Amino acid sequence: MSIRNQLQSKIEAGTARLGVIGIGYVGLPLAVEFAKAGLPVVGFDVKPEKAEQVNRGESYVGDVPSDELRRVVEAGTLTATSDFARLGECDAAIICVPTPLRKTKDPDISYIVAACEQIVAHGTHCRLVVLESTTYPGTCEEVILPMLAEGGRRVGEDFFLCFSPERVDPGNAEFPTSRIPKVVGGITPACAEVAARLYEKAIVTVVPVSSARVAETVKLLENTFRSVNIGLINEIARMCHAMRIDVWEVIGAAATKPFGFIPFYPGPGLGGHCIPIDPLYLSWKAKLAKFNPKFIELAAEINESMPAHVVERAAEILNDHAKPLRGSKILVLGVAYKKDVNDTRESPAIAVIDLLQKKGALVEYADPHVPVLDEEGLRLEAVDPTPERLAACDLAIIITDHAAFDYPAIVAHAPAVFDTRNATAKVDGQGKVVRL
Ligand SMILES: NC(=O)c1ccc[n+]([C@@H]2O[C@H](COP(=O)([O-])OP(=O)(O)OC[C@H]3O[C@@H](n4cnc5c(N)ncnc54)[C@H](O)[C@@H]3O)[C@@H](O)[C@H]2O)c1
Repeated sequence: MSIRNQLQSKIEAGTARLGVIGIGYVGLPLAVEFAKAGLPVVGFDVKPEKAEQVNRGESYVGDVPSDELRRVVEAGTLTATSDFARLGECDAAIICVPTPLRKTKDPDISYIVAACEQIVAHGTHCRLVVLESTTYPGTCEEVILPMLAEGGRRVGEDFFLCFSPERVDPGNAEFPTSRIPKVVGGITPACAEVAARLYEKAIVTVVPVSSARVAETVKLLENTFRSVNIGLINEIARMCHAMRIDVWEVIGAAATKPFGFIPFYPGPGLGGHCIPIDPLYLSWKAKLAKFNPKFIELAAEINESMPAHVVERAAEILNDHAKPLRGSKILVLGVAYKKDVNDTRESPAIAVIDLLQKKGALVEYADPHVPVLDEEGLRLEAVDPTPERLAACDLAIIITDHAAFDYPAIVAHAPAVFDTRNATAKVDGQGKVVRL
């Protein structure tokens, strides 16, 4: 029997052992989904504490309830480890490691390379490798393929290599991992076919595309689409402010058009591991092909300027109350990069707090999901937004529109509120609320 048939038979029978490399926001939900589908799964992470937490059935990812995790751990279908020698047990591996930018804003794919080195060193029986980490077009073919083909192994026959973008939307209960269609592109058609058989075990819809390069670009298009549209609406918001027009009312009315318009909303800036970073992977690669994409960099420029705009507007509001920014007490409400999650990576709150502090403001923050903010040299502990604390500040700035905040109480007690998310739309502003 060919290697492909052997592997496909194991997948069909539910006996193929899957290694998920990198069990963070993307890898852990995916590992749990496959384990729920009955496949034996081993999660690998360089941080032993993450593996230990998984083995205790304690989830550290909001979208994975601990009791769901405990069920698959107790059933023995999911284990986690930092011992990469256990890749020797695996028939397939899915890579979900970080893909940040270097200080120069160039892609840093060193985590992908490190994961592949572990597969080469230990994954003797690992015939299928799928990369899910967001990356530039060509990563599978130009970087991973030569590593796995070492020693004359033939892709599409001896091993199978694919890209399948992760599209998880943290905090979105309507679309858990299993219900988000999975795009799969292989180095060869056989690669895509084998990976599709695997994903069909746990994911409702698999969308095959003609190559790994196309699949890599699909993810970058999706996130560039968001970044550019958010950049556009942030610029429109600033334009409306200059012309004294309520941008939120404009968007709300435009969104009643039943075709041809998708509402995007302004905010204090982009955050998270994806939207601020991924488009720059695409522009970096495009420049190597002597193509200079303009939208991507313009959107990044506008989005990156939003925290400074928020601080400027905060200073204007305080000025209207005859107060200087220096020495004023500012309560920042929400530091996670988006609603109802605990992720603070790249959060615009970090830049806003940093700028406020540099201008001499006394900053505290409240966030029910983030007890300690420890990012980019900032270290602060959350406070409770009690009526007394709200009343004691000079300005409350809503950066993240968490559902858990009591907006009527915020408006009732704070002397002034700057709402960058339109979170107080349904609350009587009592003349105290200024919106972005
Ligand atoms: N978080 C999201 O919403 C999201 C959505 C879509 C795509 N992505 C992409 O998915 C990828 C992973 O993102 P994430 O949010 O899960 O990151 P994360 O930091 O939450 O998880 C990555 C994990 O990989 C581990 N790791 C690092 N190097 C490793 C190695 N060599 N071997 C094993 N483990 C290693 C880290 O310790 C960490 O636990 C990124 O490329 C990201 O762009 C993320």
